[in-house]
Amino acid sequence: MAVTQAVQPSTYQVESLIAEDIDAYLEFHQHKSLLRFITCGSVDDGKSTLIGRLLYDAKMIFEDQLATLEADSRRVGTQGGEIDFALLVDGLAAEREQGITIDVAYRFFATEKRKFIVADTPGHEQYTRNMVTGASTADLAVILIDARKGVLTQTRRHSYLAHLIGIRNIVLAVNKMDLVGYDQATFDAIVADYRAFAEQIGITDFLPMPISGFKGDNITALSANTPWYAGPTLIGHLEAVELDVTSAQTRPLRMPVQWVNRPNLDFRGFSGLIASGSVQPGDAVRVLPSGKTSTVARIVTFDGDLETAVAGQSVTLTLADEIDCSRGDVIAIADDPPQAADQFEATLVWMADEEMLAGRPYWLKMGAQTTSATIHAPKYQVNVNTLEHLAVKTLELNAIGVTNLTTDRPIVFEPYVDTSTAPSKTLGGFILIDKITNATVAAGMIHFALRRSQNVHWQATDVGRDKHASLKNQTAAVLWLTGLSGAGKSTIANLVERKLVRMNRHTFLLDGDNVRHGLNKDLGFTDADRIENVRRVGEVARLMTDAGLIVITAFISPFRAEREMVRQMMAPGEFIEVHVDTTLAEAERRDVKGLYAKARSGQLKNFTGIDSPYEAPEHPEIHIDTTAMSADQAAEFIIAKLIP
Ligand code: ADX
Repeated sequence: MAVTQAVQPSTYQVESLIAEDIDAYLEFHQHKSLLRFITCGSVDDGKSTLIGRLLYDAKMIFEDQLATLEADSRRVGTQGGEIDFALLVDGLAAEREQGITIDVAYRFFATEKRKFIVADTPGHEQYTRNMVTGASTADLAVILIDARKGVLTQTRRHSYLAHLIGIRNIVLAVNKMDLVGYDQATFDAIVADYRAFAEQIGITDFLPMPISGFKGDNITALSANTPWYAGPTLIGHLEAVELDVTSAQTRPLRMPVQWVNRPNLDFRGFSGLIASGSVQPGDAVRVLPSGKTSTVARIVTFDGDLETAVAGQSVTLTLADEIDCSRGDVIAIADDPPQAADQFEATLVWMADEEMLAGRPYWLKMGAQTTSATIHAPKYQVNVNTLEHLAVKTLELNAIGVTNLTTDRPIVFEPYVDTSTAPSKTLGGFILIDKITNATVAAGMIHFALRRSQNVHWQATDVGRDKHASLKNQTAAVLWLTGLSGAGKSTIANLVERKLVRMNRHTFLLDGDNVRHGLNKDLGFTDADRIENVRRVGEVARLMTDAGLIVITAFISPFRAEREMVRQMMAPGEFIEVHVDTTLAEAERRDVKGLYAKARSGQLKNFTGIDSPYEAPEHPEIHIDTTAMSADQAAEFIIAKLIP
């Protein structure tokens, strides 16, 4: 979607500055504060008209756009020849014809006092992810209501989402007041209705405002049509409202380290954006998650050293002591640091077309911290229209749910939800990324760390894994056989083990069918169960390599992501992926267990290759074509690769 970029100021004074002294103008402009806000409303609430009006009244429309707008208004406008501001915002031609707005459109405009970025997000439920994207950086939300319709389901959903994402400044813009004769009773009734709902979801404060985006009432000037309204104009409020970054300055210091600045051996600085609080040379600080303390020596910036720096500023800190601190660590005030933990409860907004898979590792990215994380089965999903909690097994596109998460290493965090002030988005808000496709699959907000993670520690043991392996005169390894059912994994694995034992190697064979009779008796063949199957087998194989064994596994293990997860669990070089490759037709022709026939006739669901996917390895260490090699040859081939 086209973004309207316009930086023309609104007064003659400033306009002449542009002409006479462009540097002074840019300087003036640069030091204005920036408010990010979001507008939410249903179709026909007049959202686009309102934004168009704001841009127009702030004189932020380029001349050529204005000419097009006037022409378009006459051609396709819905306002009978008057300027249809919605056309300005509804950008793309295709959208105009469809009459709805898709995607998140960001627009920039400015008044004398402030600069603004407004995210205009669509109202339909299927665009929840767009709204969450737009809202994630916003300081304020304008919730639009059509005065003729009052509070709708969509109003409730938008308010819930805005609050969830952490927006604490809510404007309830009761729009189209011109169409209800500027009637105060109508306005009051809507506000009372909204207040009752808002309290339920924890919105303690909001500013109700009677407006008409179309006529311009209470937008830049107070309207004579609503003499009973004593509040500010919309622009007036947007210009004056306190920014999140300003309120963040009153909280304790947190600075996530973006990078370690080390141009030469004499200088080592930690660069990042101060997320909250302020800092001065001499302040005692603590680096998380290590917990090491030091004192701030200098605050270095491009324009020279500072005596003090506050939330919202990007700086480089040098410390008095040589302590470990790397990208993703957080520098905090020493006596009031945030926590670090590796298990959390969080709210997730699922944003991918593919449903959430409990047990699958995703990248968790929170500010400068990135780690692998797995999601547990959802505790519940929230029906955003009714606020009911629903029991679910997974989260689908646009679903919002609460679940536990486990990260591979402790991350430094602050709770995102249940704060009355704007939350710490950099330390409590995260995204999840699919490791294979790199797509963002979810946005999340941390509630709290699970206590159990804080009470379970690593216990040091004296006999290490190297000792176990050297006693056995071997190097531990995992031969991970993957392939379709009937490819020959179990047969080959069995031969490999026999041959290795004959060579006096210490081995253990984990076979799918066998493990599913015991340890994994509780698991079936849904995607989630297969993921859990492979996770457990991976953990067991991991323990066995610690014990110095050569582990051979024979599992379909159909998903790349989980095979990759197991690889990451092992020491470098220890995981040897063996693709036991057979065409589906050949496996089906063999059909040793008669399962393909059952699957084809519909008696067996979720069968790999038939109605459940198999993702072949892209770069296996060993590739076995079972149509070109006997099982015995395959076993010899594998052993030759393992023990050259
Ligand atoms: S995995 O996908 O979770 O790795 P695993 O290797 O443990 O599967 O189990 C596969 C074995 O279970 C197959 O060899 C077959 O004997 C049996 N089985 C039963 N139902 C299915 C099914 N729906 N899909 C695949 N294998 C099945």
